[in-house]
Amino acid sequence: VTSSRDIAVLSYHVQVQPGLLKDIGALASRLTPGHTFALVTDEHVAERWLEPVLKSFEHAAPWARVLSYAITPGEAQKTRDTWAAVTDWLLRHRCSRDTTVIALGGGVVGDLAGFVAATFLRGVPVIQVPTSLLAMVDSSVGGKTGVDTSAGKNLVGAFHQPLAVLIDPNTLATLPAVHARAGMAEVLKHGAIADATHFEAAERFGTALRQATERGLAVHWHEAEAINLIARSVAIKAEIVARDERESGLRKVLNAGHTVAHAVELVSAYRWLHGEAVSVGLVIETRLAEQAGIAVRGTARRLQRALDAVALPTALPSDLPVDALIQAMRSDKKASAGELAFSLLADIGRTFGDERLGWAMVLEEDAVRAELARAQGPPYEQTADKPPIAGPRA
Ligand SMILES: NC(=O)c1ccc[n+]([C@@H]2O[C@H](COP(=O)([O-])OP(=O)(O)OC[C@H]3O[C@@H](n4cnc5c(N)ncnc54)[C@H](O)[C@@H]3O)[C@@H](O)[C@H]2O)c1
Ligand SMILES: [Zn+2]
Repeated sequence: VTSSRDIAVLSYHVQVQPGLLKDIGALASRLTPGHTFALVTDEHVAERWLEPVLKSFEHAAPWARVLSYAITPGEAQKTRDTWAAVTDWLLRHRCSRDTTVIALGGGVVGDLAGFVAATFLRGVPVIQVPTSLLAMVDSSVGGKTGVDTSAGKNLVGAFHQPLAVLIDPNTLATLPAVHARAGMAEVLKHGAIADATHFEAAERFGTALRQATERGLAVHWHEAEAINLIARSVAIKAEIVARDERESGLRKVLNAGHTVAHAVELVSAYRWLHGEAVSVGLVIETRLAEQAGIAVRGTARRLQRALDAVALPTALPSDLPVDALIQAMRSDKKASAGELAFSLLADIGRTFGDERLGWAMVLEEDAVRAELARAQGPPYEQTADKPPIAGPRA
């Protein structure tokens, strides 16, 4: 089929294909000799997409034992408590080393289920089946798994590469628009760090996405344009991850916009979605890069235009005070000795840095403060189209 894409990452493959969900059972049982498949999902995703996955196992692997567990949706569940609950569930069902975990959901499910798989019996395989745009283009690829603690996000975790990443763009049909937009921030980031042509394609797609959702129209996620957008984003991330699996250097370029973004998430008490925070972070950090003479003049404005077109936030409302943001940045897990470090763009499609200089740049607090102050703007209203709260526990 021409609508299928296959991207190699390290030792595994990412497959992007509309309708792939109905093949999960066949693909999973071919990839692993596992006799037990432990599906971990959340209640929103379970309600819409669990049944086709279960059916696919009934057809393709009727001998297999298939268990499923749906967590309560949301970042607040990405904790050690939920990790323990899922692990206890596997133990209760006497799962052994022939178990394969299947993470069906957004980045929360992927990070959590991946971490369960990384630690269960010292590690069992995980297959990532991402259902949010962010999870498809970013979190399911690269092997980072983990949970949050009250001290911050993703502070406890492990590198655990999946056995495969199976992406069915059709699942995006039910993704709330606010999450689709948030995912577009990472798609644009991938273009901005590595490929100006992809950046432009993402801007066009993002504009169409915003227009469609504003009019209540369906987004054509099954069509070539969307498939290419997802596949190209994955390929950019895959190439970087393959060259620096454990983030000792180059992989840091994926953190463009993220020093400010993590501070915004923390100070907003996670009311801002990750992608929304990345959006404003990209603009502010790129303005800083321009001032430092690192980025070509106009790069920040170019980014802002694309992010505005998707209706992503590019200003800081007054409930995110500069002092609190600076403090949060100092305690970021990537900051050493409280320095303010950034992975900066040099231009649209190109990052700053090399083996000698490194890929993160320390900037003066005064300059950062001034830019955060300059970015203050009107309050950002998240669109209210939240997913309906429903779904039985599987
Ligand atoms: N591991 C990594 O490298 C990495 C990279 C980036 C982000 N992350 C993590 O990813 C998480 C964010 O991921 P996210 O944005 O996918 O959040 P999420 O998993 O909370 O999903 C967003 C919302 O969409 C719902 N949803 C997902 N797919 C759906 C579908 N197809 N139909 C209907 N509803 C659907 C979910 O139930 C949830 O309510 C954060 O915890 C972040 O730290 C990890
Ligand atoms: Zn991110």
